[in-house]
Amino acid sequence: MNVQWYPGHMTKAKRMMQEDIKLIDLVIELLDARIPLSSRNPDIDDLAKGKSRLVLLNKSDLADPASNDKWLDFFTDKGYVALLLDSKNRKGFGAINKSVQEACAAKLERDRKRGIIGRPVRAMVVGIPNVGKSTFINSLCKKASTKTGNKPGVTKGKQWIRLDKNVELLDTPGILWPKFENEGIGNNLAFIGSINDEILDETELAMKLIEQLKLMYPGVIESRFETDENNETVVILELIARKRGCLKKGNEPDYEKAARVILDEFRSGRLGRITLEQP
Ligand code: G4P
Repeated sequence: MNVQWYPGHMTKAKRMMQEDIKLIDLVIELLDARIPLSSRNPDIDDLAKGKSRLVLLNKSDLADPASNDKWLDFFTDKGYVALLLDSKNRKGFGAINKSVQEACAAKLERDRKRGIIGRPVRAMVVGIPNVGKSTFINSLCKKASTKTGNKPGVTKGKQWIRLDKNVELLDTPGILWPKFENEGIGNNLAFIGSINDEILDETELAMKLIEQLKLMYPGVIESRFETDENNETVVILELIARKRGCLKKGNEPDYEKAARVILDEFRSGRLGRITLEQP
């Protein structure tokens, strides 16, 4: 699969982020808990050099609970403050303020030594498209909801959301471009819907998902679609098409439609809580 991104669009996003990052102390990095590494842009370490860091594993409600715990340990072991989050249902938000303080502890201590006390930490949310940045910021807003508006000395047009007396959040997230370092990463991003389906062959993608699920979660496809998993992938797709009434004229299976059913059911969690990569 040859996945193309839009270089112009992403170059602009990168430039904007580099500007915004100058204004902040803390980078809040949103990852998709179903593919924590594939949904991470490796350039973030460079971009966020010298900043405090917080890693949020979002959409944890769709990911495998056992894998969630493993990934949390993985990032904690790497020295990040990390949290599991479900932005859609506003779960996990109670721990955010404390985690922000924890992530910024060293910075706050440096400030204190230099006599700077009570200056709020400025934070920014970053992540690849569709990881849940807007949902996260909206959910936080509902809790905090005081927009502080423009401030002298701060770039015009920037809005800050005051989370509490210690933290201010930039209301526009930084968009990171996904990196397709190998085919596996590209596939993972496509499975969760992070790459525009219009530029992909959905039938091919769904067949790859079936194969990956057979390996990682044997029995899931079989029980959801009541089909024998031991069949060849294309036969499984055909059986699913028939089961779900995805048919063309003359009772021919509509592979494309069946592919969309599988992708939709995976993305919405109807296939169960599934994590596609392990630490
Ligand atoms: P972005 O700003 O990073 O591009 O992502 P955005 O917030 O627009 O979220 C993308 C999709 O992911 C939205 O679904 C949103 O509801 C969903 N989402 C965000 N966080 C979570 C989460 O923690 N768990 C789950 N299950 N879903 C989450 P959508 O289909 O585009 O919109 P909607 O139908 O939910 O309104």
